[in-house]
Amino acid sequence: MKNIEILISEMTLEEKAALCTGATAWTTTPITRLEIPRIQVADGPHGIRKVVKSESLGLETLEATCFPTASCLASSWNLDLLYEMGQALAEEAIALDVDIVLGPGVNMKRIPTCGRNFEYYSEDPFLAGEMAASFINGVQKMGVGTSLKHFAANNQETLRMTIDAMVDERSLHEIYLSAFEIAVKKAQPWTVMCAYNRLNDVYGSENLYLMTEILKNQWGFEGFVVSDWSAVHNRVKSLQAGLDLEMPGPRERRVQEVIDAVRSGQLDEPVLDEAVHRILRIAFKSASTIKGKKFDNAAHHALARKIAGEGIVLLKNNGILPLKNVTNIAVIGRSAREAHFQGGGSSHINPTKVDVPLEELEKLAGNALITYCEGYPADDCTQSDMITRAVEAAQAAEVALLYIALPTYKEAEGYDRTDLDLTDQQVRLIQSVTIAQPNTVVILNNGSAVTMNSWIEGVAAVLEGWMMGQAGGGAIADVLFGHVNPSGKLAETFPLQLSDTPAFINFPGEQGIVRYGEGMFIGYRYYDTRHQSVLFPFGHGKSYTTFSFSNPSVSQRTFRDIDGVTISVDVTNTGNMLGKEVVQVYVHDQISSLMRPSKELKGFAKVELQPGETKTVSIHLDFRAFAFYHPGYRQWITESGDFDLLVGSSSAEIHIVEKVTLNSTLELPCILDSRSSINDWIQDPHGKVVFESIYKKIIESPRSNEILTYLMDLPLIEVLDLPGVSDDTYPQSILEKLLKQVRD
Ligand code: GLC
Repeated sequence: MKNIEILISEMTLEEKAALCTGATAWTTTPITRLEIPRIQVADGPHGIRKVVKSESLGLETLEATCFPTASCLASSWNLDLLYEMGQALAEEAIALDVDIVLGPGVNMKRIPTCGRNFEYYSEDPFLAGEMAASFINGVQKMGVGTSLKHFAANNQETLRMTIDAMVDERSLHEIYLSAFEIAVKKAQPWTVMCAYNRLNDVYGSENLYLMTEILKNQWGFEGFVVSDWSAVHNRVKSLQAGLDLEMPGPRERRVQEVIDAVRSGQLDEPVLDEAVHRILRIAFKSASTIKGKKFDNAAHHALARKIAGEGIVLLKNNGILPLKNVTNIAVIGRSAREAHFQGGGSSHINPTKVDVPLEELEKLAGNALITYCEGYPADDCTQSDMITRAVEAAQAAEVALLYIALPTYKEAEGYDRTDLDLTDQQVRLIQSVTIAQPNTVVILNNGSAVTMNSWIEGVAAVLEGWMMGQAGGGAIADVLFGHVNPSGKLAETFPLQLSDTPAFINFPGEQGIVRYGEGMFIGYRYYDTRHQSVLFPFGHGKSYTTFSFSNPSVSQRTFRDIDGVTISVDVTNTGNMLGKEVVQVYVHDQISSLMRPSKELKGFAKVELQPGETKTVSIHLDFRAFAFYHPGYRQWITESGDFDLLVGSSSAEIHIVEKVTLNSTLELPCILDSRSSINDWIQDPHGKVVFESIYKKIIESPRSNEILTYLMDLPLIEVLDLPGVSDDTYPQSILEKLLKQVRD
């Protein structure tokens, strides 16, 4: 491969411009004269969606394994599994001649109603970032690229192409950019995909702050930025902002706009060269991976089943699960026959095969008699006769298994849900069946939280199966019969009702603007800080065995922020079944100059234990585990002081609290601006000296109390503007001026 700089010098302006806009819906422009290969992209993020004809945005795609979607993946809290899935996905990309997989999606689950939440990991940026980094490393290790998306604050489908997300700087960095930052710094995705929406008035495709200042300059992103499909409004402005590749193509007019802009001097050619350089670097990387090698369908299906099994969350269990010696089972719900294994939209995969949940159940049920009823229709109609038949079947059985999938018309790419409810028919079905049969288990398939208040009391057990991929049917059977001990943990809070959610009053916005009024307080950050009850908390998930946490220790009780601290605990399987537990470490800052959530996830580890086995789990907490983003300094800072390290098996089940003291090594200047108070001024060594000199003179005055009261309430800017305040002398005139103001 030629030196890229030399190559660029040999390219014509027309060739450079052509390279920066897609040649087709899924490929970049090859330049045969210079042996520059095309790049072939395809959606992900949980399977390879390779269209048969690259020219079409078409529905006809080649067969590939449909792995569990992001909600399910994140609920596994198993980074190794994400890495393994990434490798398998790359094998399929290589087989299908795909250079870059368009995923993962790491947008925050700001509100459970977002229609694309099934494609996103979590309400927590640390968990999402770690998951994405692991997945990206798995894929890219195999010589296939990824596209970290959608950058940034793309948290709703309503008006997704134009909505203007108004996000304050601190919330942007701590919540909406953080997962991207972790993934870029830990995994260097070959590409990042800009979002459709605007952020603080600027389109994602034209956002210089996001794509150049933050992503490229601050985070050191080395790949190229690709637009979401048709997200570009002005090609020249987007290039100047750092958007390297526009998709889809072909867009001859856009290419010509770029050529004209360079010729007219509107666009500096070095700006175009930078985009060309980034694209060429990836193009040659992609070309070096030999494509066309077959992948093992069965092995990938088995992997999809293993992943789904670890992503399933046992929300409730009165002991009915795992099923033992059951001889008569009523299986109710159409998703027992029609697996609801993926979501609608660009991530829709043409699966190599799909488990039929009912059949997978029958394989493990031995000689049990199994009766099936549809229970609810494909549409939103209510069908009482279906419920009647289901109740009869449930009554005649020992156990009723209710397979309940949220219909695609309720959640998919392109639109948001208007509620968190199952369909009316499904609710009535569950209520009626549980009255007739107390041994009822509900198995859910949905992309994000649903409400359960109207039926959960009567149900013996609830499994959250998510959109679990093509092998989900087998995974559910594995968990129901105890072949797999569930170890999933919620990566998003299940609220009691939609109106309890932090974004509720600001969603989906109005007049084209959505205000992120809840700031950083999304998900558990909100519910915990407000001590608000939820249905199931972030990090929640039960097991068929039990665990204990003991023997905590920290590497240092007092530590420097740049050294961090390591916390260790012993975890013991106190039950009689092999199982996995997720040790979660949350950090609580006891005192901070700016408000912080009451706890934030900053470390986790999944550990497998035989009955009676104990393992020591150690988790290192670095600078960023204690830092917060300060808009005044426009950087992440630490403040010296005491912190609590909370170790638990969910955000609500904290078993151990260890107190540590951080010494910040940062030397930050005092920030004084029009909003600063006298107290801010006194924090600054110089300000303290000046104030004390004033204070000394005032205190000698007969009316010192009045003056001091007045002075302390003055905005600092007025005090500092008082003549003579900035130097050490304090002329009598100031005192008289203050006395006069006090008198007035
Ligand atoms: C879609 C999605 C994006 C996808 C792209 C290509 O609109 O927003 O996630 O990768 O277009 O299908």
